[in-house]
Amino acid sequence: MNTIKSIVVVSLGVALCGLASCDTGNLRRDPGHIYAPDMTYSRAYDAYTSNPKLGKDSLISRLPVDGTIARGHMLPDHLKEGDTTAYKTFTTSLRFNAEEMKEGGRLFNIYCAICHGPNLDGQGPLYSSGKFAAMPANFKDGKYLHMPVGQMFAAAKYGKNMMGSYAAQLDEKQRWMVIAYIKKVQSENGGDAFTFGEGTAAPAAKADTAKAAMPMAAADAKKDEKKAK
Ligand code: HEC
Repeated sequence: MNTIKSIVVVSLGVALCGLASCDTGNLRRDPGHIYAPDMTYSRAYDAYTSNPKLGKDSLISRLPVDGTIARGHMLPDHLKEGDTTAYKTFTTSLRFNAEEMKEGGRLFNIYCAICHGPNLDGQGPLYSSGKFAAMPANFKDGKYLHMPVGQMFAAAKYGKNMMGSYAAQLDEKQRWMVIAYIKKVQSENGGDAFTFGEGTAAPAAKADTAKAAMPMAAADAKKDEKKAK
């Protein structure tokens, strides 16, 4: 018992001494000599702080300039939400191989099937459970079988009445892949002949995003080639 007591007393003493030695009476705030001040005190502004030089909207992390197109993305179509007539003739020259068609189906099942149904009959689980009141488009119905692809694209981009926009979830190419998948299923259910397949002639595209984007990509590739030399 005595040994335990003395161990406790000794360790308490050591601890107190330790604490006391920390308190030197005056706090030392000087970091000492700085070898490379630029590294100690960053000159760069940190993200999400503000830069007074930028004025009122002083956030350091800036939005891209209006009209910026990320590499690999398509040029904008310049159509607006209400341009329903223009969207009816809007199309693409993108053509998809079997793998891309499969991806279109996968994306459809993730984003659209919950309402439009995995069989594209408008009987998705969200609707058939009664939790979603608006009847989603039945893509096998005569009303939608011959719907222009551009109109479908507009629905995916902006939404339609009770349906929300999927522009944030699907980029342009993904949207076209999903539409190609819908058109493929429709072509097998009394719809128009399928035209998104590889080797099918591109329609005379009115506002063609893909074609317009191509020369830029080619120019980029050339530049990269030059750099490499
Ligand atoms: C939350 C349920 C819901 C989801 C998810 C959904 N839709 Fe819809 N969709 C609807 C409803 C409801 C309508 C009918 C809108 C109307 O005509 O009032 C509709 C209509 C449409 C139409 C017809 C547009 C028109 O002009 O009449 C298309 C095309 C379409 N959806 C495509 C898609 C695609 C592609 C996806 C997936 C990216 C998708 N939808 C996801 C509910 C949904």
